[in-house]
Amino acid sequence: MIYFFSGTGNSLRLARQLAAQLGERLLPMTEAVGTAPSFATNHEALGLVFPVYAWGLPLVVDQFVAALPHPAAAVPKRYVYAVLTCGDDIGQTDRLLRSALGRRGWELSAVFSVQLRNTYVCLPGFDVDTPALTATKEARTEARLGDIVERIRSRSASSAADITPGAFPWLKSRVLRPLFNRFLTADSHFRCNSPVCTGCGRCAKACPLGNIDIDASSRTPRWKGHCTHCLACYHACPHHAINYGFFTQGKGQVAIIR
Ligand SMILES: Cc1cc2nc3c(=O)[nH]c(=O)nc-3n(C[C@H](O)[C@H](O)[C@H](O)COP(=O)(O)O)c2cc1C
Ligand code: SF4
Ligand code: SF4
Repeated sequence: MIYFFSGTGNSLRLARQLAAQLGERLLPMTEAVGTAPSFATNHEALGLVFPVYAWGLPLVVDQFVAALPHPAAAVPKRYVYAVLTCGDDIGQTDRLLRSALGRRGWELSAVFSVQLRNTYVCLPGFDVDTPALTATKEARTEARLGDIVERIRSRSASSAADITPGAFPWLKSRVLRPLFNRFLTADSHFRCNSPVCTGCGRCAKACPLGNIDIDASSRTPRWKGHCTHCLACYHACPHHAINYGFFTQGKGQVAIIR
């Protein structure tokens, strides 16, 4: 069983590929908060696939893990793995996840990170990848996925080589991440450029949390305050009408993978 969360679709595509190759069921975390996983056998693994946001778990993934019911006491230890998608590096996301799962009585057996298209654009210096970098990442993914599938099939533990913590992982995950979550994730910073907005509703449709309505009178998006900062709404707009704060004007967009 694989639970996934995805904003712009990188993790969704990877989760689908994993599920197909492993013959596993795929379930969205957003629809399974607080429900106990129903395993077909005691040998079935528990997989988690999601993106790294600000060197940690997306808020919605944090909520999913925090509400995960404890494993049944009578069942032997289950293989639990996570595949984290990122644009570059994960900091200490693996450790944050291990601790969060541990608080719910689950032990993380293996964790892998995979570099995919970068989707973060809201601060100066951050933009989507060039087509050449995207192609390089895609070319690497197939071999990486094959390796991960083999490791999961053989129920292997992961090693330090399976993740890309990057430079200063502690600083990123333990200092910058809380500041980022506190000051840079509120959906009140989203603005819609009304003259170019056509009211098409693609931003609302792209939001994995149903956090956007199209206002009936202005025909523009209205954010409802329970955002996980995935930026799907920003990337989905065909007219680049959505901006976040001051720094997304002129930045690139990625195509949403559904
Ligand atoms: C808010 C936000 C924060 C991000 N933070 C990181 C990060 O800390 N490290 C990184 O390598 N990539 C980061 N990224 C890039 C995503 O992890 C990466 O593009 C991921 O594959 C997106 O997956 P999704 O399409 O399933 O949402 C971030 C993206 C967003 C939207
Ligand atoms: S409002 Fe936008 S950034 Fe927030 S969860 Fe929805 S799509 Fe993602
Ligand atoms: S996707 Fe863009 S044009 Fe369409 S409703 Fe949303 S902001 Fe307006």
